[in-house]
Amino acid sequence: MADEVKKEAPANFKVTIDNITIEVAPGTSILNAARKIGGDVTPPAMCYYSKLQGSGGKCRTCLVEVAAGSTADPRPMPKLVASCRTNVMDGMIVKNITSERVQDARAGVVEFLLLNHPLDCPICDQAGECHLQDLGYEHGKEGTRYEFKRRTFEKEDIGPYIQLHMTRCILCYRCTYVADQLTDNRVHGILDRGDHAEISTYISKSIDNDFSGNMIDVCPVGALTDKTFRFKNRVWFTKPVDAHRDCENEKCCGKVTLWQRGDDVLRVTSRKDEWGEVQSYDGKPGWICNTCRFDKKKASDWVIEGPTSISRHSVISQGHYVGLQKPKETIAEVMGGREPKLLMDIHSISDVNSVEIASLPGPATSKTFKNVNGE
Ligand code: SF4
Ligand code: FES
Repeated sequence: MADEVKKEAPANFKVTIDNITIEVAPGTSILNAARKIGGDVTPPAMCYYSKLQGSGGKCRTCLVEVAAGSTADPRPMPKLVASCRTNVMDGMIVKNITSERVQDARAGVVEFLLLNHPLDCPICDQAGECHLQDLGYEHGKEGTRYEFKRRTFEKEDIGPYIQLHMTRCILCYRCTYVADQLTDNRVHGILDRGDHAEISTYISKSIDNDFSGNMIDVCPVGALTDKTFRFKNRVWFTKPVDAHRDCENEKCCGKVTLWQRGDDVLRVTSRKDEWGEVQSYDGKPGWICNTCRFDKKKASDWVIEGPTSISRHSVISQGHYVGLQKPKETIAEVMGGREPKLLMDIHSISDVNSVEIASLPGPATSKTFKNVNGE
C-alpha cells in the first residue's frame, strides 16, 4: 500500500487593497478579501451574494483596479476587473477607493443602472434598505444624459406574497438563484435578451413555495416587495428586534428580525449581516420559511432576544424620535380658548407631526377633504 501523502494546506496569499495588506487563503476573491478588511475599502456588490452559488459578474458595481497582478508577474491588469469574480494572487496590489479610474467607472455603472430605474424612493418600500439608493447617493449624477423612452412595466403579482415592480429590477439574477437553490421548483426567470430582458414567471405561474420569501430579502432594490408589508410603514419608523421560534420546517433557521411599531409586528425578515446578506448560523445561511415570514405576525409567536444592531450610518438608525417631548398645552390653550373646527391628527401614525386646520375661511360645512380616491 502506498504511503499516505500528507497534503499540506497551501500557504496564504498576501494581497494589498487600498494600501492595507492582509493574508487570505488561495481561491479567495478580491471582494471577499476586501470584506475581511471591511469599511470603505470593500467594493459595493449588487449581484454577488456569498450564500448563493454562481452569483456575481452581472452588475459591474464591484469593479476594481489591479495595479500589480502578483509577485511573480507584477504587471498591472489593463482593464478594471469585477472583484467578485477575480481571485487574489500572492503579492497582488488592488486599488478601490484610491483609484480615480474605479470611482469614475462606478459612477458610470450607477448611471447605467439608473437608465430605466425610476427615482421613486419616496414611495418605494425598499427605501432606506436599498443598495442602489446608497450607490446613487455616493456616485450618482444630478442630471441624466439619456434621451430615449424608458422601459416601463405594469406591476405584477407573482404569487400570494410577492409583488414585482419590473421597472425597478436591475437584473442581478439573485432571486433566480434563490429559486434554484432553495425552492423545489423555479417558475420564474429572466425572459428575452438585451434591452428586452425582464424577470417574469413562466406562463404566468405564481411563485408559491415554502422559501420563496427569501427572494424579497436578496433583491437589492425594490423590485420584489413583501405584499404583507407594502405601504404599512417607512422602515426607519419601525423598531427592529431579533427573535426566534422553534420552526417545524427543518430547512428554516427560525431566527429572524421582527420590524415592530409599538407591539405590532409589521414585517418579518431574515437577519442580515453588515453586507446586507442573510446571516449564517453553524456555517449555514439563515434562510427562513414563508410560515415564519408571513404567518407569524404576533410578538407572542416569538421569543424576543433584544434590539437588532443596525449600523449607525444607516437611515434605519436615524428615524427614531428618542426623548420625544409632546407639548404640554392643549390646542384650546394655544388658541386662546377656541376649539379647532377641524383637526387632522396624524400623531398616532407617525409620531412626527400634526396638521391643524382651524383657520380656513367659510362655514365648517364647506371644509371637506378628499383622499386620493376622491372619497
Ligand atoms: S427582481 Fe430583484 S433580485 Fe430579481 S433580478 Fe431583479 S433586482 Fe435582482
Ligand atoms: S457584484 Fe461583482 S459584478 Fe455584481
